[in-house]
Amino acid sequence: MRIYLDHNATTPVDPLAAETMTRALKDLFGNPSSVHYYGQQAKAALDDARSAVAALVGAEPSEIVFTSSGTEADNLAIRGAAEALEPSGRRHLVTSGIEHEAVLNTFKALARRGWKTTLLPMDASGILAPDRLREALTDDTALVSVMHANNEIGTIQPVAELAAIAHARGALFHTDAVQSTGKIPVNVRTLGVDLLALSAHKFYGPKGAGALWIKRGVRLLPFATGGKQERNRRAGTENTPGLIGMGVAAAQAMSKLDAEGARLALLRDRLEQGILASVPNTEVNGARDRRVPNTSNISFDRVEAESLLIALDLEGIAVSTGSACSSGTLEPSHVLRAMNLPPHRAQNSIRFSLGSGNTEAEIDRVIAVLPGVVRKLRSLSTVGARG
Ligand SMILES: Cc1ncc(COP(=O)(O)O)c(C=O)c1O
Repeated sequence: MRIYLDHNATTPVDPLAAETMTRALKDLFGNPSSVHYYGQQAKAALDDARSAVAALVGAEPSEIVFTSSGTEADNLAIRGAAEALEPSGRRHLVTSGIEHEAVLNTFKALARRGWKTTLLPMDASGILAPDRLREALTDDTALVSVMHANNEIGTIQPVAELAAIAHARGALFHTDAVQSTGKIPVNVRTLGVDLLALSAHKFYGPKGAGALWIKRGVRLLPFATGGKQERNRRAGTENTPGLIGMGVAAAQAMSKLDAEGARLALLRDRLEQGILASVPNTEVNGARDRRVPNTSNISFDRVEAESLLIALDLEGIAVSTGSACSSGTLEPSHVLRAMNLPPHRAQNSIRFSLGSGNTEAEIDRVIAVLPGVVRKLRSLSTVGARG
């Protein structure tokens, strides 16, 4: 039995999306910018996909710009808005310390080019206090970027409130909704943002397909020069089959949103309660009451997360750590560090992220296997017990 609990990394492709993509690869090879029959066929399919993606986030199809990924959508939002606002003299950008690298590294790149950047700190809840943003804003702030749901701990940020605060100071607001789209209701109007990024492979679409929603009237300077695709906002021939797959996945996600969210929340809570009850010295990271329904991030005291991940993989259970292994050293998760958790807790955390294929029987197997695996690792551990 193999159990996949890493849906925040990526999801399997929805069967109907896969089937539609395969057909598109074979039959819809025309360039959607071509005026002849072949081009128009491809364009019509792309327009359907645009409508489905727009519907998933409560937007108009004409406001959706297709990209190659969530990463590209974040880059286009942040770099595009920063460049467009440069002549206004506003040279300050604000984000949170728990963002994905797609946002954090874009901020770092802009800082190297002379932009002033502020990284907002968090507390252990993993939820940004609106006052933190209020204090950080200045008359020079051009853009605020705060994610909707966090990829490691699943916490949901008060985006509507944060966007209103940013707007009151004349700043634009971007949200990275890669981990919330398809998991919980996402509506660009209710959130009150100006820009919103999403990615197909987090909601059972293919990898290499994403979108940026740009509110009508918001001006961005595209960073790729080339053709006039995507209404002059993103040059380059569209990945037609991938984007068609994203459209199908978006429609599927929308039709299942409430039922699947409720099902996953029950399974996730069963898993979490089972682990906390059967494995001593474990703690859930981040606020438990404001999370996407599929995510649980748990610290296992005196266990190195990487060892636990490998031990679980040998048992057929796929999970992930927030830590990244760079040049042989294990770096604690930047998200957990930004939440001010002690370093050992940031190094012994495992993310369980559930999805469509998971069953109660799978969750019960994980709960049955984990105590023995953790006991064994702890008996081998040289690290003393820490509170
Ligand atoms: C919150 C968040 N933003 C952005 C991305 C990047 O998306 P993509 O993999 O499509 O580039 C991810 C992917 O893990 C993510 O979790």
